[in-house]
Amino acid sequence: MIYFDNAATSFPKPPEVFAAMTQFMAEAGGNPGRSGHRLATGAEAMIDNTRNAVSKFFGIGDPKRCIFTLNCTDALNMAIKGVLRTGDHAISSVLEHNSVNRPLQKAADDGEITLDRVGLDESGAWRVADVLAKVTPKTKLVAITHCANVLGVVCPVAELGQALRAKHPHVRLLVDAAQSAGVVPIDAEAMGIDFLAFPGHKGLFAPTGTGALLIGSRVKEDELRAWREGGTGGDSSSPHQPFELPYYLEGGTPNTMGIAGLLAGVTFLKKEGPNKVLAHERALQQRLIESLGADSRFTLYGTKDPPKKGGALSITIKDRDTAETASILDQAFEICVRPGLHCAPYTHKALGTFPTGTLRLSPGYFNTLDEADAVVAALQEIAS
Ligand SMILES: Cc1ncc(COP(=O)(O)O)c(C=O)c1O
Repeated sequence: MIYFDNAATSFPKPPEVFAAMTQFMAEAGGNPGRSGHRLATGAEAMIDNTRNAVSKFFGIGDPKRCIFTLNCTDALNMAIKGVLRTGDHAISSVLEHNSVNRPLQKAADDGEITLDRVGLDESGAWRVADVLAKVTPKTKLVAITHCANVLGVVCPVAELGQALRAKHPHVRLLVDAAQSAGVVPIDAEAMGIDFLAFPGHKGLFAPTGTGALLIGSRVKEDELRAWREGGTGGDSSSPHQPFELPYYLEGGTPNTMGIAGLLAGVTFLKKEGPNKVLAHERALQQRLIESLGADSRFTLYGTKDPPKKGGALSITIKDRDTAETASILDQAFEICVRPGLHCAPYTHKALGTFPTGTLRLSPGYFNTLDEADAVVAALQEIAS
C-alpha cells in the first residue's frame, strides 16, 4: 500500500506517538485540573509540557496562549466566531477550505459581517496587494491560508502580517496553517500572525482529534468571545467562564490521550529536524512534478517550483474522471489519494476544475522516491 493522502491526515504516525498515547492511558490517565490526586496532576503536567513545546515550536512566547482544540476546523471557528462582531468586515481568499469559508459565509448571509474574497495569482497563491486593497476602517479580520490544500502553494504570510501591522494595526490576522504546520517553518510573532490555527493530525504527526489555536501577544482577552463554555477545573463557584487563557476557551475535558500524542509528534519532528522533513517532502514533489509535468496527458495546477510548495500536488488526467481514477488507484494499485473538491469549492471555480475537481497527490515524510515513481507509473497506465 502507498499512502499519498497526507494532506488529509498523516499516515503512518511515528511509533513514538502511539507509544506515548498508550503509556499515558496505562499509567497517567487522570482528568487534568479536575482533581488534586497524582493522576490528575500528572495529566495536567503533560498538558503543560505540550503547551510549552507547541508554543515554542511556533514562536509564541506565552504558552497560556496555546489553546487545544479538536482539529483545525475547531480552532478556525474559535477565532472567527470569537473575534467578529456585527458590522465588521472580513477578508479571505478563494483558496480557503470550507472550515474558513463556511463560518464566514454564514456570518455574511446572516447580515452580521461583510466579506471579500481575493483571487489567486498564476502560481496559485493569494497576493498581498489584493488583500491590502480590500482593507477598510471596518475590517476586523483577515482569515487566510498559509498553504492551500488543493494547490499546496506557500502564500506570503510574513509579508502580509508585517504590512498589516505597519499600515492597518486595527486588523487581526488569522492564518489557517492546516497544511503548513510542521511542514513549512512558522514563527508566528515574527510573521505578524495574531491567530495561528492548525491540526495536530497532519504535519505534526499527532492523532486525529487534536489541534490548536495560538493567540499572539497583541490580542487582548476581551477581543475574544468564548464560543464554548463549561467546566475548566478552576473556580467552580463563578457563574461565568473564567476570563483567563487558556481556560477561557477550553471548556470541557480535553483530549488528553491525543495531546500526549501531540507532544510526542512535535518531539519527533524536532528530533528529525524540520528542515530535513521539508527537504524530503519537496524532493518527493519534485519527482512527481518532473515526471508528470513532462507528459502532456497530465495537467498540473499551481506552481511547478518545489521550493514554493508544501505537501500537495493537484492534477487532472486527459479524458479521465478524477473519482474513478482514485478508485482504480485504490483497488488495482493499492495507492491512496484524494479526488474531488477537497472542501475548497472556490479554488476549483477559480481553476476551472469545478465541480469534478482534481486528483490530489500528497506524499509525506514516510514516503520514498520509489513510491513516487510507482504512483507516476500507475497514473501513466491509467492515462493510457
Ligand atoms: C487548508 C485546510 N484548512 C482546514 C482544514 C480542516 O482541518 P481539520 O480536518 O483538522 O479540521 C483542512 C483539512 O484538510 C485543510 O486542508
